[in-house]
Amino acid sequence: MTVVVLLAAGRGVRMRSERPKVLHEVAGRALLDRSLDTAKRVAGGADRVVVVVPKESAEVREHLKAHPGVRVAVQDPPRGTGDAVRAAATTFGKANRVVVLSGDVPLLSADAVKGLVDTLSKNKKAAVAVLTAELEDPAGYGRIVRDRAKRFVKIVEEKDSSNRERKICEINTGTYAFDRVFLETALPLLTSKNSQNEFYLTDVLLLARKADRRVILVEGDPLSALGVNSRADLAHVDSILRRRSAEAAMAAGATLLRPETITLDETVVLEPDTVLEPFVTLLGKTRVGSGSVIGQGAVVKDSVFGKNVTVRPYCVIESAVIGDGAVVGPFARLREGTDLAEGVHIGNFVETKKAVLKKGVKANHLTYLGDTEIGERTNVGAGVITCNYDGFLKHRTTIGRDVFVGSDVQLVAPVTIGDGAIIAAGTTVTEDVPKDALALARAPQQNLPEGGAKYRAKKSGLKKA
Ligand code: UD1
Ligand code: CA
Repeated sequence: MTVVVLLAAGRGVRMRSERPKVLHEVAGRALLDRSLDTAKRVAGGADRVVVVVPKESAEVREHLKAHPGVRVAVQDPPRGTGDAVRAAATTFGKANRVVVLSGDVPLLSADAVKGLVDTLSKNKKAAVAVLTAELEDPAGYGRIVRDRAKRFVKIVEEKDSSNRERKICEINTGTYAFDRVFLETALPLLTSKNSQNEFYLTDVLLLARKADRRVILVEGDPLSALGVNSRADLAHVDSILRRRSAEAAMAAGATLLRPETITLDETVVLEPDTVLEPFVTLLGKTRVGSGSVIGQGAVVKDSVFGKNVTVRPYCVIESAVIGDGAVVGPFARLREGTDLAEGVHIGNFVETKKAVLKKGVKANHLTYLGDTEIGERTNVGAGVITCNYDGFLKHRTTIGRDVFVGSDVQLVAPVTIGDGAIIAAGTTVTEDVPKDALALARAPQQNLPEGGAKYRAKKSGLKKA
C-alpha cells in the first residue's frame, strides 16, 4: 500500500503574493488541483492522499472541499520539506511506501511517479527512489552530486552549493518514493544545519547512503520537472499547457490561425472543422460545434455553441448557449443566461442577459436585452432597450413571435407584447400590447416654417457680438 504526501505548506515567498502559491492557476486550473490529480492516481484513492498545509490555510482548506476524502496534515510553522513530511507521519499507518510530491510541480505525470514506485518495489534493499532530470538551466534546483563511479552522494540545494556543484545539470525534481519504515527512522534524525535553517527532506537520502541503503535515481522528462517558484515560472508552465491544448485541438480537426496567439483551457471542446481566428480566448466548459468560426479577439467562457455558428470579431460571451447557424457580433456581449436558438442574428453593440431568443430572431444594432423572452422571427430594431430594472427589482419583458420592434423603443418591464404586434419607432412601451396591434407613443411633431434658418441666424449673430 502506498500513501502519497503532497507538500503545500511552503511560504512561496518568491511569488510575492497574498494568495497561497498552490492556488495560483496554470491554464485555468490551480496548481494544487493538478498535483492532487496526480497524487490520487498514484495512491489509487483520495483517502490515501495527505496534503500538508500551513496553520493559516483557510483558502487551501476551502479549495480542498472539491477533493473529498483527501486528508490534511498541518505543519506549524513551516520549517522545510523534511519537517513537512514529518508533519504527515501520523498518517502513514502500515503503508509499505510513502510517495512525496510537491504542490508546485504541475507537469509531473502520474505515470512517471508510478514508475518510481515500481522501481522501489522491485528493489527490496532500496530506501528511496528519486526522480531526477537533466536540465539545460538547473538554476534554483537541488543538484544531484555523484562520486567518480557515478554513485549517488547527496543532494545539495543551490543556496548551499559550491561553485563546482552549481555546474551540475542533473537536478532533484522533488518527487520521491520512500520505504516507509526507513523514512520513519530517518525523519527524526534530520537537522537544520544549512544556509536556510530548514529541515531538508533531501537529507533523508544522505542518511540512506550513510546507512548503506540504496538510493535509486530515476531520470525523467525535463519538462515534467518544472517547479513553479515565481510568476515567471507560472507563465512558462501556463504557455506549455496552452500550447499542448492548441496542438490537441488541431490534432482533433480544428483550424487555428496563428495558434501561438490563441488561449484555450484544457476543458474546452472543439468539434472538427471549427475555425479559430487569431487572439481568440476560450475558457472553462466551452464547447464549439463543427463548422463554427470564432472571430478574432473573442473571449468566450463556459458557453455551448451549435454547428455553423459565426462569431464575428471582438465578442465577449459568458455562460451562453448559441444555436446552429446563429451569427453574433462583431462587438457583441452575451452574458449569463443568454440562449439563442437556431439562426438568431445578434449584431454590433448588442448586450444580452437572461435572454431567450427563439429561432430566427434578429437584433442587429445597439440594443440591450435583459430578462426577456422573444418569439420566433421577431425583429428588434436599432437602439431598443428592455428597461428591466426599476432601481429595486428586475422585471421581465415577454415578446411574441413575428413582432416588429421599431428603432429606439424602450420596453418598460414588466410588459408583454403579443404575436404579430408592431411597435413604432421611438415608442416608450409601458402597457401590454395585444396581438397584431400597432403601438405608438410619441409626442406629435411640429415643423416651424423657416425655424431652422432663424435659429441659425440668431446663433451666428451672437457669435459675432
Ligand atoms: C525543493 C528541493 C530541491 C528540488 C526542488 C524541486 C528540498 C530541500 N529541496 O526545493 O532539491 O530541486 O524542490 O522543485 O526539498 N514545503 C512545505 N513546507 C515547508 C517548505 C516547503 O510544505 O516548510 C512545500 C512547498 O509548498 C512546495 C514544496 O514543499 O510545494 C517544495 O518547497 P520549495 O520551498 O519550493 O522547495 P525548493 O526550494 O523548490
Ligand atoms: Ca519549489
